[in-house]
Amino acid sequence: MNYSIEINPLETLQSNCLIVGVYNNQQLSESAQALDKQINGLLTTIMARGDIAGKINDTLLLNVIPDSAIERILLVGLGEQKPLSAKNYRKALAAAINAVKKSRLTSVAVSLTDCDVEKADLTWKTRQIVEVFSDALYQFTACKSKSEDSATLETVVITAKTHEAEAASTGLVQGLAIAEGMTLTKQLADLPANICTPTYLAQQALTLAGAYDALEATILEVADMEQLGMGSLLAVARGSRQPAKLITLEYHGGDKNSKPIVLIGKGLTFDSGGISLKPGAGMDEMKYDMCGGAAVLGTLQAAAQLRLPLNIVGLVPASENMPDGQANKPGDILTSMSGKTIEVLNTDAEGRLILCDTLTYAQRFNPEVVIDLATLTGAVLVALGRVPSGLLGNDDALCNDLITAGETANDSVWRLPLWEEYQEQLKSNFADLANIGGKDAGTITAACFLANFAENFRWAHLDIAGTAWRTGSAKGATGRPVPLLTQYLLNRAYAGR
Ligand code: BES
Ligand code: MN
Ligand code: ZN
Repeated sequence: MNYSIEINPLETLQSNCLIVGVYNNQQLSESAQALDKQINGLLTTIMARGDIAGKINDTLLLNVIPDSAIERILLVGLGEQKPLSAKNYRKALAAAINAVKKSRLTSVAVSLTDCDVEKADLTWKTRQIVEVFSDALYQFTACKSKSEDSATLETVVITAKTHEAEAASTGLVQGLAIAEGMTLTKQLADLPANICTPTYLAQQALTLAGAYDALEATILEVADMEQLGMGSLLAVARGSRQPAKLITLEYHGGDKNSKPIVLIGKGLTFDSGGISLKPGAGMDEMKYDMCGGAAVLGTLQAAAQLRLPLNIVGLVPASENMPDGQANKPGDILTSMSGKTIEVLNTDAEGRLILCDTLTYAQRFNPEVVIDLATLTGAVLVALGRVPSGLLGNDDALCNDLITAGETANDSVWRLPLWEEYQEQLKSNFADLANIGGKDAGTITAACFLANFAENFRWAHLDIAGTAWRTGSAKGATGRPVPLLTQYLLNRAYAGR
């Protein structure tokens, strides 16, 4: 897809379809008014007839424009004539692109940057157009033998006024970086576990490092991890025929001496539960247990594309969790890289076992902050559903920065408490820690487990089990939390903190 900014008025553009907004009081947006004059009041006539109410989600395609070189016009409802909420703006954009998808258009010109959106500037609006369109146009076709009747759209032109051109270009650049980071994340996540193995993920990191000068990848093999004493991570991998990998993808964009932001993503390429086997229904979705790792790769790609003036380290512990004669057993006691011992009371609580050694490993990068993202608990779905990601952490400033970034990026998080009282639930009679904390507060006790390995730095944990993919008939990866993390990085790079 080719996205570009155009400063000439909409009605003068060559395109298969001009997209304009209309309000529910029959008022036309600014660009729609100019266009209406050009076509002798056709839009006013149509509005007066009531053919489109102008509500959010309404669209109307005019595919013949009499006495005009304009091929088509798509009217898009904007609701009440007042600044739109960010969510309604995105809904209107989604309705527009979904209407376009139903047609065979190859080019569209969008003027929806001309309506007011609460707390939003032109950069943000442009960025949302790219993100929402790209999200709607994503298709996973890698494993289909015949190419389906796929989308025809090739060109999206976004209009801006001359004095807005720079702000719009910034939005375009950011939107593309985020959208492409999300696409990479979705593609990796949607791949089945027999293709997307730990080795495959490691190769993807090497490919990314080959594509961007500022990225560098290093892969730790099982033997390297044995040397480092990663007894917890390696125990999870023992039941699998696929060798575990610990992927490091470093982005060098900041001063040599500036401390890096470390992002850790759970890269469990298939979670069967291990000896504590999961029930069969829906187990296919456990191919998505590597979404955290995929989002780390997607975010680093976005950072590299944006040439952010920061240093960032991505760490992805990658493994399968399978039952086998060598596998972890309930009751086994592991020694982690930190020296802390762990009693495995449930082999299905494996995410924390691979993350704890990675947290310990992160310390050698002398991090400014560490953020981990993991499809860690089913319990986060009970607590928060599929709307925000769960957020827990040991540093209020870091958590607040993530909350703010999530609001801007429309990729929200909700903080849960990480109080010491919950540590009680992780007591073991036989080891320093148990790997499960009982049936209460599962998301919190999982984070409490991790907190024991994040004592020496500012750390936040995102539980993305409810947000990384959709279930049901629209099953597929979402690319979250790439927008949140990229926004956080943009804020760090350009807004002081
Ligand atoms: N990857 C799962 C978490 C998960 C489960 C994500 C369902 C999305 C949907 C994780 O490894 C896991 O199995 N967690 C267990 C922990 C329990 C054994 C304490 C869970 O949530 O059931
Ligand atoms: Mn599990
Ligand atoms: Zn898991």
